[in-house]
Amino acid sequence: MLAARLARQLKASSSSSFRASAVRRVSTTPARRSDALFVHRDTTYNNPKVPFEFNAENLTRANEIVSHYPPQYKKAAVIPLLDLAQRQNKGWTSISVMNYVANFLEMPPMRVYEVATFYTMFNREPIGEHFVQVCTTTPCMLRGAYDILDAVCQDLGGIKPGETTKDGKFTVIEVECQGACSNAPMLVIGDDFYEDLTPESTRKVLDAFKKGTKPKPGPQSGRHTSENSAGLTNLTGKPYGPGEHCLPEFA
Ligand code: FES
Repeated sequence: MLAARLARQLKASSSSSFRASAVRRVSTTPARRSDALFVHRDTTYNNPKVPFEFNAENLTRANEIVSHYPPQYKKAAVIPLLDLAQRQNKGWTSISVMNYVANFLEMPPMRVYEVATFYTMFNREPIGEHFVQVCTTTPCMLRGAYDILDAVCQDLGGIKPGETTKDGKFTVIEVECQGACSNAPMLVIGDDFYEDLTPESTRKVLDAFKKGTKPKPGPQSGRHTSENSAGLTNLTGKPYGPGEHCLPEFA
């Protein structure tokens, strides 16, 4: 009796765990590098003794950004300044970057840490030369985002989301909606959107980056921006001019 009941329970639990693993990919987001570290721990490459300061060009830009705000509210420039500093620091925001920005804006470092650990566009760990962000939110997911993510991971030597290739060239992460849903599925590399992707066109885009070239951003399907993929469906005739009536009885 007991053995039979145990067998039934085991069967039930194994089938429910199978169901859980079958839906897991849809309902969970892998750990993201940008928010993986809420707690800073000193490392050889990320500690307050590693020097950071704006170069001359970025110092001019930073001062210009700060000048947009009233002097008593200059801390409002924390996000653009962190962004500027992250770009100079090869795409990631170290403790020295945050401390420098805090000092620059005369605000408590903790306030800067709060911002940098809240917004996922601030990477708290070093990233590869090309930062590949694959959108897997619903509109992209429904149009094959996971095929794109798989194609990226396979093409980059089997790395997983959140990892960097051994040569340091590519980091891939999974991200939420990038606002280009009408051109789903899509991914971002650096600051550029690559849209209307298929696994094949994704591999072509990555190959171009591997060769040191940059493919044309935008839809990879050939359509212009987000024009109707079914072609023109209205405004197909000559538009009536100003003062003319559009109804047939007035034509
Ligand atoms: S869901 Fe992917 S861009 Fe909006």
